[in-house]
This record gives sequence, C-alpha cells and structure tokens, in this order.
Amino acid sequence: MKTIFQMSSPGRIGTSLPEMDVPAESNIPEELSREGDGSVGLPEASEGQIMRHYVNLSTMNHHVDKGMYPLGSCTMKYNPKQYEDLARIKGLSGIHPLCPDELAAGSLELMYRLGEFFCEITGFEGVSLQPAAGAQGEFCGIMLIKSYHESRGESHRNEILMPDSAHGTNPATSRLADCVVVGVESNEYGLVDPEDLRRKVGPNTAAFMLTNPNTLGLFESHIEELTSIVHEAGGLNYMDGANMNAMLGIAKPGEMGFDVCHLNLHKTFATPHGGGGPGSGPVPCTRELARFLPDPVVILDEEGNYSLMKKQDSFGKLMAFHGNTGVLYKAYAYIRTLGAEGLREVSENALINANYLKAKLGKYFDNPFDNGPCMHEFVLSGDRQAEQGVKTLDIAKRLLDYGFHAPTVYFPQIVHEAMMIEPTETESLEDLDAFAEAMISIAGEAAEKPYLVTDAPVNTPVLRLDEVKAVKELCLVEPVEEGDNL
Ligand SMILES: Cc1ncc(COP(=O)(O)O)c(C=O)c1O
Repeated sequence: MKTIFQMSSPGRIGTSLPEMDVPAESNIPEELSREGDGSVGLPEASEGQIMRHYVNLSTMNHHVDKGMYPLGSCTMKYNPKQYEDLARIKGLSGIHPLCPDELAAGSLELMYRLGEFFCEITGFEGVSLQPAAGAQGEFCGIMLIKSYHESRGESHRNEILMPDSAHGTNPATSRLADCVVVGVESNEYGLVDPEDLRRKVGPNTAAFMLTNPNTLGLFESHIEELTSIVHEAGGLNYMDGANMNAMLGIAKPGEMGFDVCHLNLHKTFATPHGGGGPGSGPVPCTRELARFLPDPVVILDEEGNYSLMKKQDSFGKLMAFHGNTGVLYKAYAYIRTLGAEGLREVSENALINANYLKAKLGKYFDNPFDNGPCMHEFVLSGDRQAEQGVKTLDIAKRLLDYGFHAPTVYFPQIVHEAMMIEPTETESLEDLDAFAEAMISIAGEAAEKPYLVTDAPVNTPVLRLDEVKAVKELCLVEPVEEGDNL
C-alpha cells in the first residue's frame, strides 16, 4: 500500500478555494521549512484519495469493530457508539477543569450518581472515580490499605499476599507501593489453597490481593474462608475487580469479605479499550477506608448542591483534576440504558458465551483446569498441538488469517502453552460458531499440515514479524520510499 506521501501529486487539492486576492506568501521562515523554499512538504491529494487512504489504513489492523477479539482478560467487547455521542455533549465535554462547582453542577451530579451505582454494584460505601486505569486503581487500593494500617499504628504491615494466578499488574502495583509480594499457591483445581494462605498470613500482612474470577476464569469457591483468614490476621482484602463483567448483579465483593476493589470501566462498562486511549479504574471501598480516598470527591450537601471536597485524611491526589471524565460519562450512560436487569444479563451472557465456546473447543485442545463451568473466560493449553510441532504463538498468528484476533497467549503462566479466551457477551451465536470453526480447523491443520500454521499469517498486510526486533528497534515513522515495507 502506498503511503500518503507516495500518492502526493503537486498541485492536487481536496477543495477548490476562490482565487487569492492578496499576494501568495509563506510566513514560514525559509530556514525552518523542510523543503528550504518556504513549503513544508505536505502531501497533496484529492479528498477521495485521502478518504480511501485512511479508511484502508483503519482496516489494516484487527480491531473490535472489524471482527471478534477474544483477548482473554482484556475484555475487548463491542462498545455501542451512542455513548460516544453522549460523552461529547457540549455541556459535559466543554467544561474547563477549573470551572467553579456551581457551573459544573450537571457533570458533578453525574459523577456523584455514577459513584453511587458503583457502590451498589460492588456492595461498598465509598468510591473514587479518579484512577485512570485498572492498574492505577490497584495502586489507589493499596494506598488506602497502607493508610488504614498507618492510622492504627501498624505501618510495619507491608506484605501483600497473592496467588500464583494473579494478574501481572497485581505484583507490579504492590512493588510500586513499596510493599513486599508474598506468593500463595493454587491447588490442583486452579483455586487458592486456603491452607497455604493460612501458612502465609502473619503480623506483617497488609492485604490479600485476589483477582476474582481468577485468571483461569474460575470463581474462587472458598472466597469467604479466604477473606476471613486474612481479617483474623489483621490484614485487609483487596479484590481485583477487573473481571466484574462476570458478576454484575450476581455477586458483590463487599459481601464476600473484601474491603476494597477496583473496576475497569473499559472492560466492564463498555468504554473503549486499548490503543493507548484514556481508561478508568474507579475504586469502591468500605466506609472505614473511604476517609483515605484520593482528593477530591464529589459530595451532595443538604441543600441538594453538588461540590468537590478535599478529604482530611486523604492519601493525596492520583490524577490532575477529576480523572478521565469523558470515560466516566460513557459508563454512566451505559449503566442507565441497561439498568440493573440489563447489567445482570450482560454477565449472564458473557458466562454463557464463554461456556459455549469452552464446550465446543474442549475436544480439540487440552484444558488442564476444566473442573466444571467457567466464568467469563477460560484457558486452553496448546500442548497437544506443540507435540505436533505447532506452538501456541503459531495458532495465534494463524487465527489472523481466519479474520480473528488471537486469544491472550502464554498467560496465565500456570498453564503451559496457554490460550486465554474471552468471547464477551457482545458476540452473536454465529460469530462464536465461526471462531470455534476457525480454531477447530487450525487444530486439524496442526495435525495434518502443520506448515500452514507455522508459516502464518499469510493473508495480512504484513507477514510474520520479528517481534523481538520490533520491540528493540521500534520504528514509528511512515516509510517514504516506494517499496518500503509497511
Ligand atoms: C484482572 C486484571 N487486573 C488488572 C488489569 C489492569 O488494568 P489496566 O490495563 O486498565 O491497567 C487488567 C487488564 O485488563 C486485568 O484483566
């Protein structure tokens, strides 16, 4: 595909402007212009050419508006476009962050109500909408926990316990918050071993941090026993609630013995994910922890006015101003349009879709932790195909030829040749079937013509990339010479 610079033809334009009635002159000093003659060397093309160029470019990468994206744990579900329009309403998107509270009452009210929804959904009493991503929500939660222990004269409590199935951000965030990570083993069912947790808790335990449902797509069936063990040892319980899309309206972390959790709006509440765009990871917590929440929070006074308040015991600020409000508006609109029943249906359908695919693929791939129904995702192993000379990475690449994004691969690490599949609730039966057929077909190829899989992809704009080289020698500049590889 030609670059926009290669398509350029001198004098070609997208619009016809009237003849100039002033002398043509460039204000760019010659020494600053790329061409040295006052021009900046911008491509010259017609509107039609530009339109086609960018539409073509937009479809070169796989994305969720183009096809299914079953990237386990990342929850790439289709985001209804109406929420984009709602978040762009001038009165919301045009507010200056320093605008006085009285003039931003509508926005503050939405934030306040959204916070109430999150408390209702999670079973908690306080909330911060500030964190800009799930991982920052984790950091916020750990800072609340640290503040709590400090307030009780127990600042020595610095150990965060977590299972070997933890999401990667959990240990990373704990270290960032200057805590020590203590591993807890999973049992043969892929669930936390309560006996090991009992052995690991102690006087230095700050918290137990648990991704639930865990990264194997399994609900921790001993949840109340686990959280009680930690409370009895004086620690607190943190639930990584990024997977709340499996439990909306079904189960609440606040009723399972957790003290704080975070939500990933871009996973659960249909705000766009990926591409480096803004995210949001609100943190609901107990009343006891709420006094330490980051500044500011929205309050409602007795006269019915909304305003921003600094908390006396707050551990500080996490974001400039109030977080990614555009994302918060979308989540608010999503919750309002679905209502309580609709949200529950989201999770029920996510569970049904995942279990449907698991059942369809079970015969063709290994599933080392198949102990009954899964939650919103499941993890297969490519071990059987590896014996045929086809690795999980090859299967991931081959899926692109079939028009699907790959599942998350090689994670969680407790599954060999892991493929973590999350179809989400937004895929239709036909799409699920098409994905299953592609996977089954690839399993057949691995057994009979493995080169089809190991040479993949062959239908994509670029063939297999050297991913290590791409990371080490990252080049983000548009190729300019004819024949340059994109
Ligand atoms: C279980 C879990 N925890 C934490 C995170 C981190 O969230 P973020 O990518 O928004 O930082 C994710 C991301 O998908 C996740 O799946």
